[in-house]
Amino acid sequence: MLLLTIILLIFIILLLFSLSFAFRERRRRKGRPFFDNSPVELIEASDIDPIFASNEFGPSINTETLLIGDAGSFASTNLTEAWILCVLAKSASTIFEFGTCSGRTTYMLARNAPEDATIGTITLTPETAKNYQAGSDDPDLWSKQALIESNYTKFLYSDTNEEKKIRQFLGDSKTFDEHEWINQCDLIFIDGSHAYSYVKSDTEKSMRMIKNNGFIIWHDFSPACPGVWNYLSELATQYPVKHIKGTRLGILKFTNN
Ligand SMILES: C[S@@+](CC[C@H](N)C(=O)[O-])C[C@H]1O[C@@H](n2cnc3c(N)ncnc32)[C@H](O)[C@@H]1O
Repeated sequence: MLLLTIILLIFIILLLFSLSFAFRERRRRKGRPFFDNSPVELIEASDIDPIFASNEFGPSINTETLLIGDAGSFASTNLTEAWILCVLAKSASTIFEFGTCSGRTTYMLARNAPEDATIGTITLTPETAKNYQAGSDDPDLWSKQALIESNYTKFLYSDTNEEKKIRQFLGDSKTFDEHEWINQCDLIFIDGSHAYSYVKSDTEKSMRMIKNNGFIIWHDFSPACPGVWNYLSELATQYPVKHIKGTRLGILKFTNN
């Protein structure tokens, strides 16, 4: 009886120990599933750019930005994601966004970018949604999701001072002609359709549009969006794609050497 009690106690102690290890590990890997074999490395925002380095007060005043809250926003970035994008926008003269939706992130990018910056952004609308071209292996779910999010014809930035910086494209990103943007962009945000074939197509265009040392950022890098998760995991075997801790942002600092 005593032996059985001792064994049970040891079992409980071991169980508690492993649970506490598992929870600590979960916190350490914030933003990642407990078991994952993605080669996309998890990094701090300060690993992308020293401007994000914290001092004893937290993030420095150099990272001050103008943001709009995420509560009640539709299919948009959360505040940390928006803050990271907008800090980078402060020093970007040409920005491109795949996926405008309500235009909340477009507006914030424009609001924080320099006065003479240009922000291109593309979206489907209820009228152009018929041009969506699902890949043969793209699950229906992602086509439906893309079309649900294609319901804006006016945007948050419409009739604001920022509108003059923004070039809105209404159409399908697979047929978007990126030639005018080749090697022009300091920052690209890929947040259109999350179907694999679109993430691939938008990324391949972005690789041509980005400047040396520019940033390509993907939204929804999460196993919940397999098109983004799988594509970036493949891309990370060729390019140093990273995942910013505590966000769903994948990021690549593009260098053409
Ligand atoms: C997740 S929302 C974008 C959210 C926005 N970036 C933000 O942060 O607020 C997805 C957007 O991608 C657009 N989209 C989806 N499929 C597209 C396609 N094939 N071509 C162009 N835009 C597409 C949708 O119309 C919608 O505007």
